[in-house]
Amino acid sequence: MENSAFSNISHGVQQPLNTPPESPTKAAPPRSRFGHAHKKTESWSSLNHIVEHGIAIPTSPGSHNTIEVPATRSPDAHASQYMNQLSAPPSMKERRLSRNSFGAALPIPRSKRQSRLSSVTFADVQDALASATGARPDMAQMQPTREILASRVQDVNAEKVRGAKNMAFVFDIDGVLVHGDRLIPEGQKVLSMLNGNNELGIKIPHIFLTNGSGKPELARTEQLAKILQNPVSTDQFIQSHTPMRALAEYYSTVLVVGGEEYRCREVAEQYGFKDIIVPNDIVAWDPSIAPYRVFTDAERASSRPRDFTQVEIEAIMVFSDSRDYATDMQIIMDLLRSKKGRLGTTAEDPVSERIPIYFSQGDMLCPTEHPIPRMSQGAFRIGLEAMYKALTGVDLERVVYGKPELATYKYADEVIASWMDVLHGEERVPENVYMIGDNPASDIVGGNMYGWNTCLVRTGVFQGGENDEENPANFGVFANVWEAVTTACRKQLGPDFKFEWDDRVNPVLHGKASAIV
Ligand code: G3P
Ligand code: MG
Repeated sequence: MENSAFSNISHGVQQPLNTPPESPTKAAPPRSRFGHAHKKTESWSSLNHIVEHGIAIPTSPGSHNTIEVPATRSPDAHASQYMNQLSAPPSMKERRLSRNSFGAALPIPRSKRQSRLSSVTFADVQDALASATGARPDMAQMQPTREILASRVQDVNAEKVRGAKNMAFVFDIDGVLVHGDRLIPEGQKVLSMLNGNNELGIKIPHIFLTNGSGKPELARTEQLAKILQNPVSTDQFIQSHTPMRALAEYYSTVLVVGGEEYRCREVAEQYGFKDIIVPNDIVAWDPSIAPYRVFTDAERASSRPRDFTQVEIEAIMVFSDSRDYATDMQIIMDLLRSKKGRLGTTAEDPVSERIPIYFSQGDMLCPTEHPIPRMSQGAFRIGLEAMYKALTGVDLERVVYGKPELATYKYADEVIASWMDVLHGEERVPENVYMIGDNPASDIVGGNMYGWNTCLVRTGVFQGGENDEENPANFGVFANVWEAVTTACRKQLGPDFKFEWDDRVNPVLHGKASAIV
């Protein structure tokens, strides 16, 4: 990849070199390319989240099949706000102006469907679910009858059908639908209702948007489908690193960090990265690089060592939580301080030869089985930023994907439109999008800024009073996901909307007292 050519790019439109992005104060309200003007509660710009300086991302001649979304979080390290004494000497501050190869634009894939990741269809997932859950084999035969009946019911309820196709739900996963591998029962009930168990027998569009990470999309959706007892397609699923597949068009040789065993190498392979290195490959090559690591024979046998003094690693991708902070931080720090990603070297200038680092999400804490939330990728990153500043005297610039970053929400819009096409043959974003989340600092603030309706549930991170004080949900706070979704449906489809399908329904009389025959 050619790292010397840089351009400032916004929404895929190339601008002249060294031209800063459009001033955020003059920016139009967020609008998806599907023409959906988002209702505004707070704007990205009013919160001063659009990054004003024109840090360039690397680009090579020729076009990318990506959309480059301006960063809403500053690329500057957060660590300085937690530190007192580590101000950089003036000479360093000057050099810091020569920002290098990354920053203010976050590429997301132009194509919404994840067909490269999986050829699984909605029907395939239903079949897989039926075999996984032991559903009756005759269910498959029963389905067409219900579909015919449902389509007749829908024919005589055109207005409600329009309403159902003009709304969509975006579900956070952890703390809304599940706790790790444990089902939140209302989650299963909600999905069954949205998948057709409602008075119209209609599929109400919904996608999943999680800051979770660490395994391929198909593995994660299969696991979710099993827990939730409902089909979950990769085409309606976004985890924190899903949009990062766009980066495979910019970087070939990358260090991928985090996750269990080699699952994130698999993820990176599926995203199309050509040459993927994981910390184990480096430890196997030179165990002295991580002096506190106990490296097992099995790890050695499964790793891919080579002479890394001969390899230029172009970028670091932290896809998921580190399983070994000491080793991963040491190797990342070695690379950040190296000459253009070549291990065994130390750059004289800590900025100009530094390779970029990307994180898939920025959550500081994650609720787990442990009574006190555990540190997540955000805490790992802050640690790295502090170490980097302490060792070099300069701030670490980095890019963070995931909620509440704008790029992630824009990508969600694309996925909603594409999923609408799968469900109803209409590729568009419905007007009434509801984000259901448990974390005000990611789900809710992001949804508010993107102009969605936001619902905060009490089954996860949020345990506060009436509403969150800093990032209040604009549609309300609910005991659980069922309460949130049914309240939204009643608003859009009428207060008498029924959240159950009845096979005895007579479409001709539907809606009247004698509808059940
Ligand atoms: O913070 C990490 C992750 O578990 C959060 O997942 O689904 O709540 O965005 P989610
Ligand atoms: Mg959550």
